[in-house]
Amino acid sequence: MNRNQVDELLCEAIETERGGIKVYEIALSCAQNRDLRQEWEKYLAETRNHERILKDICTEFGVNAERDTSGRKIVRSLAETLIKGMQAALNSGVRSQAEIVAAEAVATAEMKDHLNWELIGQVASKMDGNDAAILKKAYDEVEDQEDRHFYHAKGWARELWAASLGVPAVLPPPEEKLHVKSGLGAAAAQSTRKLM
Ligand SMILES: [Fe+2]
Repeated sequence: MNRNQVDELLCEAIETERGGIKVYEIALSCAQNRDLRQEWEKYLAETRNHERILKDICTEFGVNAERDTSGRKIVRSLAETLIKGMQAALNSGVRSQAEIVAAEAVATAEMKDHLNWELIGQVASKMDGNDAAILKKAYDEVEDQEDRHFYHAKGWARELWAASLGVPAVLPPPEEKLHVKSGLGAAAAQSTRKLM
């Protein structure tokens, strides 16, 4: 196990969650659909909790949670770019467009978040002792939530786009209706779109 790289993953994961918090806060100003607003309010609260969990892991591991790394800077700049995009869309005054931009921003932010936690799960399964137990407990608490954040955001972006294009759209998206929390579930949900 490359412990330096594990530390890097934890630092990037904290930065991703912090960026996610800001992304959700602005995305909520862009959201018009009531179901979407409710979902993002819940996911924002969960993201705040994930940041706290990661900080606790760093404390337990003796990792400086504030250590800045080049990877972390890139994660931060991606969130800043997503936020700028949403602000520009809001400033343009077309609310339906801003809602789509926000759904894409959330999906993009959640892709990295989802990847981080998938890797944290893999690291946990290869570690031993107390460190493994700490990571495993965190992973078990967060994993399903991260799956929902990513797959549902993708679903919202797709369906909001479809509605704007004037082609059949399923709102809320099938991923939400079917409580999708895996890649397999997301594929199954998409295949039921026509029936919905
Ligand atoms: Fe998260």
